[in-house]
Amino acid sequence: MCGIVGYIGSRPALPILMGGLHRLEYRGYDSAGVAFFQEGRIDVVKRKGRLSNLEGALRGQFGDDLSSGGIRLGIAHTRWATHGAPSDENSHPHLSASGRIAVVHNGIIENYLEIKRSLTTLGYRFVSETDTEVVAHLIEHHFTTDACRDLLSAVLRTLGEIEGSYALGVLCADDPDSFIAARKDSPLVVGLGDHGNFIASDIPAILEHTREVLILEDKEVAVLRADGVRVMDTLGRPVDRRPMHVDWDIESAEKGGYEHFMMKEIHEEPRAVRDTVAPRIHGGGIRLDDISLTAEDVARIQRIQIIACGTANHAGHVARHAIESLCRIPVDVDVASEFRYRDPIVDGRTLAIVISQSGETLDTMAAMREAKRRGARTFAIVNVVGSSIAREADDVLYTMAGPEIAVASTKAYNTQLAAVYLLTFRLAVLLGRMTEAECAIWTGKLLALPESLERILSDREVLQRFAYEHFNARSVFFIGRGLDFALSMEGSLKLKEISYIHSEAYAGGELKHGTIALIEEGTLVVCPLTQTSLLDKMIGNIREVKARGAVVLGIACDSAPKVDDVCDTVFRIPDVDPLLAPLLAVTPMQLFAYYVAVNKGCDVDKPRNLAKSVTVE
Ligand code: AGP
Repeated sequence: MCGIVGYIGSRPALPILMGGLHRLEYRGYDSAGVAFFQEGRIDVVKRKGRLSNLEGALRGQFGDDLSSGGIRLGIAHTRWATHGAPSDENSHPHLSASGRIAVVHNGIIENYLEIKRSLTTLGYRFVSETDTEVVAHLIEHHFTTDACRDLLSAVLRTLGEIEGSYALGVLCADDPDSFIAARKDSPLVVGLGDHGNFIASDIPAILEHTREVLILEDKEVAVLRADGVRVMDTLGRPVDRRPMHVDWDIESAEKGGYEHFMMKEIHEEPRAVRDTVAPRIHGGGIRLDDISLTAEDVARIQRIQIIACGTANHAGHVARHAIESLCRIPVDVDVASEFRYRDPIVDGRTLAIVISQSGETLDTMAAMREAKRRGARTFAIVNVVGSSIAREADDVLYTMAGPEIAVASTKAYNTQLAAVYLLTFRLAVLLGRMTEAECAIWTGKLLALPESLERILSDREVLQRFAYEHFNARSVFFIGRGLDFALSMEGSLKLKEISYIHSEAYAGGELKHGTIALIEEGTLVVCPLTQTSLLDKMIGNIREVKARGAVVLGIACDSAPKVDDVCDTVFRIPDVDPLLAPLLAVTPMQLFAYYVAVNKGCDVDKPRNLAKSVTVE
């Protein structure tokens, strides 16, 4: 997610803007920039890389004291790339053709390509690969050619034409006594200060200047002047929005009020999944704009090799089920550190799917290179735009999870599955194994998942109570069958890595071949029960472990029968197609692991011995 800061008032703007960007660094970024009004024009300074690069450029213009220059109005941005690799040109703010309008944006403009094409036919020229740049040109188009009386009218008209998510800051050289902010699905707050007014993506950016904050709601617009703020809806109708007093300290503000980044990121899952799927679904069909894989390429694929580590590897096991079920292509899944050294059978008819949140995991990178060396075509599913794996793969499909700060991967896994489903459905259509009409049914189910995740999050207290009863467990088993076994791998890892409790994922049907000897009075067993066709078999496995004294937490859909008869506690998730169930059923497991770790007093966001990105062998 990108970071936005804006200010208008009686104080020097640049130190406020830069200080705010520093307060947003924790969110992750790959470039930064500022736009400010001076001497009748808008100047933009933006740089790829760390904030120090931007500060160096500003000091080159203003000297060490950024308070000089009489600048009292500006907007600033830290970019987390979604469209277009990190670069100076792709950094925000973006200027309109005349240079009189500057825009910063957090979110995804889903119909930017259509808008870009129509503006291009009107003669507009684009200098970046971003979706955001279309907003700057579209506002100017309405401001200069239509009946829009002023900047606000042009902005409101633009908001009516763009689809997707946005938090926007808009500056106009022809209107230097105010600037405009707007939000839909991406957070944006307005700060009311004694010496001016602010916008920010997150409260920490402005907390040192004011604790009086207006939280903009979806489809609301604010016009900020030095002496006041007006809030309205996107039709221009005034909205009465009362400020709130923020008494958080800076650290808790960075977590959005959550105790840990991990819980904040779990709660971002509905938005992250929506951002990953919605921009790629048009009229029920799937459009993966940046993918060069053609129907001919797909027809040549004889087998698929999935390569990843940790949580990403577990997403790969779900992918195997989905691809084999719908595409009927054999799929192998390997941990990268094993794949590299087993002299794998890979050739030009192998598609190597490489999954990585960071895009920098050394084992995964090396394994991808080994697959490439042996002739495979590589397809990466990555969260960090422009990361090493993304740059080297033949194709890359980005998850839109936004920065993941907590070491334990949560929203990244949900969005990896979302990306896997998009790819699977697309491959199935290209192979002729799925009609466009069937694809539309599947994409409709995908688009419904964010709402189901919201309900799961609202029921989290069931898990909080169960975790409180069992956080002293010495060992926990996650057992499942089919996709529920693949899912159990991730549930087990989550618990291990943040609570330090030994755990094991086991195929339900395999227990009787030895491991059931470990089940004794009080052993805790977690069972995802989302695979309808295997439910009776799993009920049998639950009876086996219950007979030996186990305590069982079941995770099942609303309409699943019998589970209440055999489980000690059942967490219900909304009904969902079994193929898509792991994307929902993982979240209760993440929450369970979180509450256990919190009860044990563990360092949830930074577990011992672990790093967020493992760039060593
Ligand atoms: C997941 O919670 C862990 N932090 C770890 O297993 C991680 O998934 C693994 O290191 C792979 O990282 P990547 O997705 O960035 O490649």
